[in-house]
Amino acid sequence: MNIPIFNTYIDKKANKYLENVLKSTFLSEGKLVKKFEKKLVNSFDFHNITTVNSGTSALHLALVLAGIKENDEVIMPAQTFIATGMVVIQQKAKIVFADIQYETGNICPKSIQEKITEKTKAIIVVHWGGYPCDMDEINEIAKKKNLIVIEDAAHALGATYKNKIIGNISDYTCFSFQAIKHLTTGDGGAICVSDENNIINAKKKRWFGINRENLEMSFLGERTYNVTELGFKYHLNDYAAALGLANLLSIQKRLKHIENIADFYRENLQNIAGIQLFEQKNDRTSANWLFGMHVENRENFVKKLQEAKISASVVHLGIDKNEIFGGKKEDLIQQRKFDATQIHIPIHYQIDMKKAKYIIEIIKKGW
Ligand SMILES: Cc1ncc(COP(=O)(O)O)c(C=O)c1O
Repeated sequence: MNIPIFNTYIDKKANKYLENVLKSTFLSEGKLVKKFEKKLVNSFDFHNITTVNSGTSALHLALVLAGIKENDEVIMPAQTFIATGMVVIQQKAKIVFADIQYETGNICPKSIQEKITEKTKAIIVVHWGGYPCDMDEINEIAKKKNLIVIEDAAHALGATYKNKIIGNISDYTCFSFQAIKHLTTGDGGAICVSDENNIINAKKKRWFGINRENLEMSFLGERTYNVTELGFKYHLNDYAAALGLANLLSIQKRLKHIENIADFYRENLQNIAGIQLFEQKNDRTSANWLFGMHVENRENFVKKLQEAKISASVVHLGIDKNEIFGGKKEDLIQQRKFDATQIHIPIHYQIDMKKAKYIIEIIKKGW
């Protein structure tokens, strides 16, 4: 038995759905993208959603829609994937790293407060492993200082904070449908925007600044438009949407299954010497994309699990260490502590109770 840390879920119906798209020969953005967006809204009760071709595109679009420009400062955590930082640089804005909470991997509201300057324009928060950040505290800071809040919810599809679905809380929320996420379209992403008037802008900007909805054809066959603003080729296509639609069929069932596995891990691993599970408050629910903990003697822990054919892995060391982001920031005290002890064990739809029991049994034997 080999138990990988990540898994790609492809629904049995996907073959049929994709075959139909191929037969139709309509591969670009069309009616399936619309249908996928509608079903996403229905499945999760989102106020609105605009799909794009990656989570990275969604984050970039959020910064563009928020008007982030050269020399603006954007506060974000280093505990993320490089995509979150790359898009800030793409806008020629300046990243200001705030520290995280050692207990969760999420951005620390107090540290955000300390990093705000005259130039701060936005805060990007990352729901680490799918566990929601302290959104009330963060949105209160943002409101006081007139800052835009962008949630990087690449890991957090289906998570809730104080009974609200992640997607309906802040100015912008960005999801990823990349291969190993809970819901995959191969590659893909989506953005939820709080201001209804912004939906049309999101839709325009994802396709070269052109509103596809009201396009008229000229007599000579060319679509008539006059592009007045910068736009991007960020739209999702029908082929990807078909895969998304197939995978959406079972999403709630799969998220529930994964939640049960997370609860089972939590119950059985909470009192083991050398392990500190990540914190879980009962005012929010995680999407459980990762199951993380802090472990003493991490190398031995990973080795023991590897010997039992179980993958355990560090998931992303603080991205500030990369030269492009300026190199390791020593003032990120909790981030450095987190880097030194974090580890994640497998949690996904292929982990059943039998595998979960086996993983727990191996961990309980010690390392
Ligand atoms: C926290 C985080 N943000 C953003 C992204 C980028 O998403 P995508 O790969 O869909 O562009 C990822 C990708 O895994 C991620 O983990």
